[in-house]
Amino acid sequence: MLKVLIIHGPNLNLLGRRETDIYGTTDLRTINGKILKKAKSLKINVEFYQSNHEGDIVDMIGQADKKFDAVVINPAAYTHTSVAIRDAIGTLDIPVIEVHLTNIYAREEFRQKSLISPVAKGVISGFGVDSYLMGLEAVVSMLKKG
Ligand code: DQA
Repeated sequence: MLKVLIIHGPNLNLLGRRETDIYGTTDLRTINGKILKKAKSLKINVEFYQSNHEGDIVDMIGQADKKFDAVVINPAAYTHTSVAIRDAIGTLDIPVIEVHLTNIYAREEFRQKSLISPVAKGVISGFGVDSYLMGLEAVVSMLKKG
């Protein structure tokens, strides 16, 4: 069975009460529940990881190809700053999909640059929770095609 690692970056643990005008009122638990439901319908396994710490995310990515077939990551604020996360992804030979709840290209200028996109297989940005679900569908479809 395919196994996909879902990584949530910094402050996403606060979803539901964080800038609700931008991110909505759905909390991370509920988002993970929706991802789990989608995973069941796709007949794959998912594992969740959330961290506010760049190095911990780097460590997790560094181990990912031992255990997982793909990674779906919302790098959150590190999207725009982290050469370390980008380099960690660059070393992997499993596909990594970058997802964002909001459309980062329609927001402040500093969010319009992603250091992660050049090493991602694809990017889905702007569809709220559905960004994760679409990311999962896309990566599973890709893996099944080989
Ligand atoms: C985000 C967009 C980032 O700019 C921001 O720092 C986040 C969330 C999103 O999902 O829309 O924390 O990645």
